Amino acid sequence: MIGIFDSGVGGISVWKELYALMPNEDFVYVADSAHCPYGRKSADEIIERAKKISDFLIGKNADIIVVACNTATAAAIKYLRSHFSIPFVGMQPAIKPAAVESKSGIIGVLATAGTFKGTLYMNTITKFAANIKVIEQTGDGLVELVENGKISGDEAEQILHKYINPIIAAGADKLVLGCTHYPFLIETIKKITNNALAIINPAPAVALQTKKILYENNISNKNNSGSNTFFSTGNTETMKMLVQNINKNINDTNFITHDI
Ligand code: DGL
Repeated sequence: MIGIFDSGVGGISVWKELYALMPNEDFVYVADSAHCPYGRKSADEIIERAKKISDFLIGKNADIIVVACNTATAAAIKYLRSHFSIPFVGMQPAIKPAAVESKSGIIGVLATAGTFKGTLYMNTITKFAANIKVIEQTGDGLVELVENGKISGDEAEQILHKYINPIIAAGADKLVLGCTHYPFLIETIKKITNNALAIINPAPAVALQTKKILYENNISNKNNSGSNTFFSTGNTETMKMLVQNINKNINDTNFITHDI
């Protein structure tokens, strides 16, 4: 069983890639929507939430956990790997492909304050973007928009304009999405930028990495028809909408509000 969690519905963008790649696996997803956003919480607070949710997922028989949240990966993945014995897969900011493919030598990164503060992000920049100019932009308010299902429309466009216009003005040709909520805004980003930036979402690479670990550890579910259960510590409405946009056959009974 593959456990997945995020501060909210953002990790559904990661589940989408995992499910597309491995439709026969069993997935249990936890959206910590009651405690969202994580972006401005302290590392200790995030570690505490990540531990409780991981305990819950292991109680549901998780063989592996995907931390489908850049902010939680930055704050807690080290702790989770040392505290639990099952494998954990985290989100990596996709700086490397952006830096390698950039023609202008300038890239934009949109992420939460927590992700920018983490050593994981700083090490990635040092390793892959030493000769590249990186424009960092904190996406305040974007997580809340997506949590409320407002992935298009005036409000989303206005906030995105504010954050992305300076990135384009600086000459960037790539935009790295450093938060799993943001892929749900891709259509709106494309609209307001007239496709001026190539958008890089690390979720497909994370799905491939998860598959590799499943096979290496022999925990893949070979003869299964697959199941998908979605828990939220808050309201399940937006999660239901986003999941059913991806697969309308996943019905309402698969969405459960549960305190963790
Ligand atoms: N999806 C989370 C991430 O990837 C959002 C963080 C938050 O809740 O602020 O960073």
